[in-house]
Amino acid sequence: MEITKIAVIGAGNMGHQIALCAALSGFQVKCTDTNTEILDKAIRFADDYLQERVSKGKLSQEAADQARNNIAFVPTVEAAAADADLVIEAVIENLAIKRKLFAQLDQICPAHTILATNSSYIVSSKIADATTRADKVCNMHFFNPALVMKLVEVVQGPHVSAETVELLMEAAKKMGKTPVLLHKEIYGFLVNRFLQATRQEALKLLDMGVASYEDIDTAVKNGLGYPMGPFQLLDLTGIDLAYHVSMERYRESGDPADRPSPTVVEKFTKGEWGKKVGKGFYDYE
Ligand SMILES: NC(=O)c1ccc[n+]([C@@H]2O[C@H](COP(=O)([O-])OP(=O)(O)OC[C@H]3O[C@@H](n4cnc5c(N)ncnc54)[C@H](O)[C@@H]3O)[C@@H](O)[C@H]2O)c1
Repeated sequence: MEITKIAVIGAGNMGHQIALCAALSGFQVKCTDTNTEILDKAIRFADDYLQERVSKGKLSQEAADQARNNIAFVPTVEAAAADADLVIEAVIENLAIKRKLFAQLDQICPAHTILATNSSYIVSSKIADATTRADKVCNMHFFNPALVMKLVEVVQGPHVSAETVELLMEAAKKMGKTPVLLHKEIYGFLVNRFLQATRQEALKLLDMGVASYEDIDTAVKNGLGYPMGPFQLLDLTGIDLAYHVSMERYRESGDPADRPSPTVVEKFTKGEWGKKVGKGFYDYE
């Protein structure tokens, strides 16, 4: 089997860029979102991004037109996934919502379709039994911003076939990515385990009043050589996502240490979710 048609479900922070990246790499892509405003924003982003690449001399007009022709923004999951070889799910980080969506995708998609989740933390074995094709349900984890970041983590749970893994690794390479394969499911995969450790420490130091978030960012960038501080990264990836991730973890473990930090709860409640809403720790107006 060869993957030529990709459906991306969820056009938010991650989905719109995964979809565009796939279209630029020659896949036939259909992208959808339940929120029409988000879908409209994704369309505008695709048009603006491609034009900007042409203006900067990074992409020929022909290649930009080709990429735009390769991608369709459609109103429903059915319209996006009915003929896909691969579905990449990028909806909210909530297990119940993902399981419901995967059960729906299982009904809609042809038997050969691989159903991948871009979840940051939820392993595919928690979703696979919502479908009748567990061997084709797998984690394919992109990084933010998906058009730029090269890494993709493919995680082979015990239920996932070797063929599924091979096809996902190939698809990631065709998208210009550098995929790595995890032979076991583990919370946070590889990169988010490192990220989580830094973030927890940063939030703890802030909550203790040891230093301002600006100075913690400055220290991490200049002392550890990270390209971005933990609070800048939280703004980029979304404070709402950090909140949902911690809540999922807490629901699962019951351990109070897994609850979101007071600062994250405060920012989440105020709607200061980061760059995508114009304000997080920093202002983006
Ligand atoms: N933000 C990041 O930095 C990042 C990085 C890697 C992975 N992820 C993962 O990617 C997934 C999406 O994260 P995000 O930050 O893009 O979230 P987001 O909230 O920006 O986007 C999610 C989108 O999904 C849409 N949606 C919800 N239910 C839907 C459904 N049933 N059908 C179609 N669309 C639906 C929402 O309207 C929303 O626009 C999560 O699982 C997250 O863990 C996020």
